Amino acid sequence: MRCVCRLLPALAVLAMLAVALVPAARAADPMTGANPTAQSVNERDLLNALGKLQGRITIPDGKAATLEQPQGREYRSFHERVLPWLAGIIILAVLAGLAAFYLIKGRIPAPPRDPGGRTVLRFSAVERLGHWLTATAFVVLAITGLNYFFGKRLLMPLIGADAFATWSHWAKYAHNFVAWAFMLGLLVMIVAWVRDNIPDRVDIAWLRAGGGFLDGSHPPAERFNAGQKLMFWGIVIFGLAISVSGVLMLFPFALLDINGMQFAQYVHATAAVLLIAVILGHIYIGTLGMEGAFQAMESGSVDLNWARTHHSVWAEKVLAEERAPRAGRPGTPAPAE
Ligand code: HEM
Repeated sequence: MRCVCRLLPALAVLAMLAVALVPAARAADPMTGANPTAQSVNERDLLNALGKLQGRITIPDGKAATLEQPQGREYRSFHERVLPWLAGIIILAVLAGLAAFYLIKGRIPAPPRDPGGRTVLRFSAVERLGHWLTATAFVVLAITGLNYFFGKRLLMPLIGADAFATWSHWAKYAHNFVAWAFMLGLLVMIVAWVRDNIPDRVDIAWLRAGGGFLDGSHPPAERFNAGQKLMFWGIVIFGLAISVSGVLMLFPFALLDINGMQFAQYVHATAAVLLIAVILGHIYIGTLGMEGAFQAMESGSVDLNWARTHHSVWAEKVLAEERAPRAGRPGTPAPAE
C-alpha cells in the first residue's frame, strides 16, 4: 500500500503532461492546415505548405493572406524564362523557314489568265468582313501580347522606361478591348467555313502529293485544300483556347482560384505563340508566297484559271452550279435542239 501511495504523485504528473502535450501535437498548423504529426500525414499538403508565406488578415479579400505559394514560383519561372525563350525560338524558326522557302522556291506563280476574262466569286462580303476583322484584331493582339514577353527586355532599353510605360499602358488597354473583335471575327469565320473544312478523300491525295509545294504540281483540291483545312482547325482550336482562357483572365478570380488563374495564363500564352506561328505561315502564303491569292480576300473574286489550277474540284462545282440554275430557272430559254 505504501508503495502505491509513493507512486501517486508521479502518476499525476504524467497524466497532466499527457493532457497538455497530446492535443498540442495533434493540432494542425493553423496557417497551412497540414498536420505533420497526424497518423496519416498528407504528403502533398506538406509539400504545398513548404515555403509558403501565409498569414492572417482581416480585410475581406482572403487571397491577400497568401503572399507566396510554391506553384507561384513554378509559374513565375515558366512565365519569365521558359515561355519567352520558347516564343522567341518558335517565331524566329518559322520566319527563317519561310525566308528559306522563299529564297529557294520563290513565289508560286499564277497560271495564265482565263482568255475570256471570267472570274468566280470565292469569298462573299460577309466572309471577307469576318476575315479582315479577325486579321486586324489578331495583328494588334499579337503585337501587344508579345510586349508582355519581350517589351521589358527588348523595347525598354531602346525607347527608355517612360516611353515604355506609356506604350505598355495603352497596349494593355488595346489587348483587353480588341480581344472582343477577335472573338467576334473568329465566330463569323467558324460559322462561314466549318462545312468547307471537313476533311475528305481529296485531302488525302493532296497531302500525299505534299500539296505540290516541292515539285510545282497542283493536286486537286476542294474550296480549301488539306493544308488550309489543317490551318483552319489549328485556328479554331488555338483561337478558342485563347478566347476562353482570355475571358477568364479578363475577370480575375470570378470563376477560378489562384491555381486556375495561373493555368489559364499557361494556356493563353502557349496557344497564342502557336497561333502566331501558324498565322505567320498563312500570311506568307496569302501575300508573298502565292500570286493571285490576296485578290481572293481583297475583291472576293478570282480568275477562273486560278481557281481551276489551285482548287480544281471546287471550281468545277461552282461552274456546274452556275449552269444548273440557269437551265432550270423558269423563263430561261432552253438551249436550241
Ligand atoms: C493579317 C494578315 C492576313 C492576310 C494577308 C491574310 C490573307 C488571306 C488570304 C489571301 C486568304 C484567301 C486564301 C484563298 O483564297 O484560298 C485568307 C484566308 C483565310 N484566312 Fe487569312 N490572312 C491574314 C490573317 C488571318 C488571321 C489572323 C486569321 C485567323 C486568326 C486568318 C484566317 C483565315 C482563314 C481561316 C482563311 C480561309 C482558309 C484559308 O485560306 O486557309 N487570316 N487569308
